[in-house]
Amino acid sequence: MARKPIMAGNWKMNLDHLQAIQVVQQLAYHLDTTDYDATDVVVIPPFTALRSIQTLIEGDRLPIGLGAQNCHWEAAGAFTGEVSAPMLAKLRAQYVICGHSERRTLFGDSDEIVNRKVRAVLAHGMTPIMCVGESEEQRTAGEQEHVVSGQVTAGLHDVTGDQAADLVVAYEPIWAIGTGKTATSEDAQVMCAAVRGVVRELYDGSVADSIRIQYGGSVKPGNVRDLMAQADIDGALVGGASLDPDDFAVICRFART
Ligand code: PGA
Repeated sequence: MARKPIMAGNWKMNLDHLQAIQVVQQLAYHLDTTDYDATDVVVIPPFTALRSIQTLIEGDRLPIGLGAQNCHWEAAGAFTGEVSAPMLAKLRAQYVICGHSERRTLFGDSDEIVNRKVRAVLAHGMTPIMCVGESEEQRTAGEQEHVVSGQVTAGLHDVTGDQAADLVVAYEPIWAIGTGKTATSEDAQVMCAAVRGVVRELYDGSVADSIRIQYGGSVKPGNVRDLMAQADIDGALVGGASLDPDDFAVICRFART
């Protein structure tokens, strides 16, 4: 079964809602039906821009998916500063990033917390983009497959095969994020294949065949085609380059340029 590529722009803590509107308008100017048919295009703004982008996407009937960068695992309650999965679902967000390495390293998102978030996102009908990836030290020590396999297994705890089949996993080596250092396409392929192998062991071949696995870490217009030519890479989670709608459009049109 062919997996539809998915390109997601993770804006991190960048762009206020007015800038965000401009970026999506410019992105939509570049893309056409052929692009959207070939590739799922997703933008993942900060919380403050979600409503503006939802309104723009729905008002102009743009086939662009909307995602959030994080959520709390509880549906409501005394969690000052947090945003819940049902709130995001109400805004018709379709994707939520769970366990980005910046959340794991700066905000204490452990494997267990990531798993709770993944299950909350699924419970409210959205698709988690579950991030995994090793640090530079772990790679130097040759532990990358062990580390990533542990993260995938823990993150998918109590997730059913049907749910896992529709999930997105983003393999993002921490040393390649925002550094300009990309994993080689071959290294990225080895790790994405390893992630698929873990999914096959946890579930079965059909879940492994349908789950989509992105590579993330300094993806740019110049390296996207090589990455996407790899058998187990189904898309990219793009940080820096997604802030520039011209660059992100080229990334989304990787198959045509
Ligand atoms: P980058 O970020 O493309 O700026 O390296 C990727 C990510 O953190 O999702």
